[in-house]
Amino acid sequence: MGSYRRVFHGTAFTSKSPKEVAVWKDCLFCIDENGLIANIVQPSDSEYAELLETYEQTDAFQRLEEGTYLLPGFVDLHVHAPQWIQAGTALDIPLSDWLQTYTFPSEAKFEDVEFARMVYADVVDTLLANGTTTALYFATIHKEASLALAEICVQKGQRGLVGKVVADNIEQTPDFYRDEDTGTALQETEEFIVAVQELAKNAKQGVYPVVTPRFIPSCTDEALQGLGKLAEKYDTHIQSHCSESDWAHGYVQGRFGMNDAKALHGFGLLREKSVMAHSNFLTDEDARLFAKNGSAIAHCPVSNAYFANSVLPLARFMEMGVEIGLGSDISGGFSPSLYDNARQAVMSSRMLEDGVDTGLPAEKRGVPNSRITLNEAFYLATAGGGESLSLPVGRLEEGYAWDVQLVDTKKESARLPLYDPEESNLDIFQKIIYLARPENIREVWVQGEKVHSRN
Ligand code: GUN
Ligand code: FE
Repeated sequence: MGSYRRVFHGTAFTSKSPKEVAVWKDCLFCIDENGLIANIVQPSDSEYAELLETYEQTDAFQRLEEGTYLLPGFVDLHVHAPQWIQAGTALDIPLSDWLQTYTFPSEAKFEDVEFARMVYADVVDTLLANGTTTALYFATIHKEASLALAEICVQKGQRGLVGKVVADNIEQTPDFYRDEDTGTALQETEEFIVAVQELAKNAKQGVYPVVTPRFIPSCTDEALQGLGKLAEKYDTHIQSHCSESDWAHGYVQGRFGMNDAKALHGFGLLREKSVMAHSNFLTDEDARLFAKNGSAIAHCPVSNAYFANSVLPLARFMEMGVEIGLGSDISGGFSPSLYDNARQAVMSSRMLEDGVDTGLPAEKRGVPNSRITLNEAFYLATAGGGESLSLPVGRLEEGYAWDVQLVDTKKESARLPLYDPEESNLDIFQKIIYLARPENIREVWVQGEKVHSRN
């Protein structure tokens, strides 16, 4: 029997595969010094009784209360931290106008590092309180403020992957929100990468620099090329927006005579650790390029309802072997919760399958075989996100990080409708995913450390 830093006793849900959820019933979850799951011991295992007896009376032991369940922490693959200041507003105009009218002016305010620190502290707290243990963040074009976001993730214990945004194209960016010039954008990106890699030496849970061309319209060819080289040199993650809307997709076709996927690939930006937001307009050929390169899609279903002019053919791309996870896309998506986004992913997929125009006969209205199940949405929010980032997170399995949320179904102000003592665990799981609110999330742990609790 090993020596463990902590031992949790309780029932957990985790994805076994995209379609299958496993229930770990009344198990012992043994966590090592590094915050990794060292051992999961089931009641039927021979060492169970002895392990329980050894740890039960120690400070290392935590027994989940009746009605409380363990879920992996969520992995949010696409969040604009600065856009938190406009979340829930400004959703009335198309993407290109939205960027110019609301979003670039909002993000320009983050030149003020003190303001940035205040907002970023709130964003990280809010995401943790919603069960998000790993987040892939866009910051802004400002190096210092972007670095502040990485520092705040470290301080608060969240696993943050953070990008200083690059936007240097004079034709598509306003004077008040643009990198000084291409050379400066690349130099500051490199300095940012080095600084975050330094910060990572003292971050148990990890903090990662991300090469972040905002999207092709915002960037010059030279910047895109240079960023591809930096990503390779420092082996970083890469993030951008890809084929999001009719306009964004059409812009790239107009400029390069090809789709985003091929253009990004040409600049060395479609790699194993790339995560591309949206990607709604990928052709099957584009999707195959993603699958071949191990590049991932951050599906942002709430945001897509406002800005994507479409529903992502999620089931088809999953079937084709593309890595996919979920993103909140604050503030294109108004909600900081991946519960909300998992719910919307299911609902949008159902609407894609059935179609929406009642003027058409049923058989012509939708796209067959488009629906995903709630289990698949849960997979996207957890294991799919971990795979997209090539990190051992998002599953409750040996060797994975102890990144979990403890969900209390009996919380006074947010009690779930559980009336049948014989109700199956998988029904309870579904009720949690559809109905849980932040009040139900009693504790959040990242890499074996408690980072959030609420009574
Ligand atoms: N495309 C370029 N920038 C953005 C952004 O901030 N949000 C969304 N949804 N799409 C973008
Ligand atoms: Fe976005």
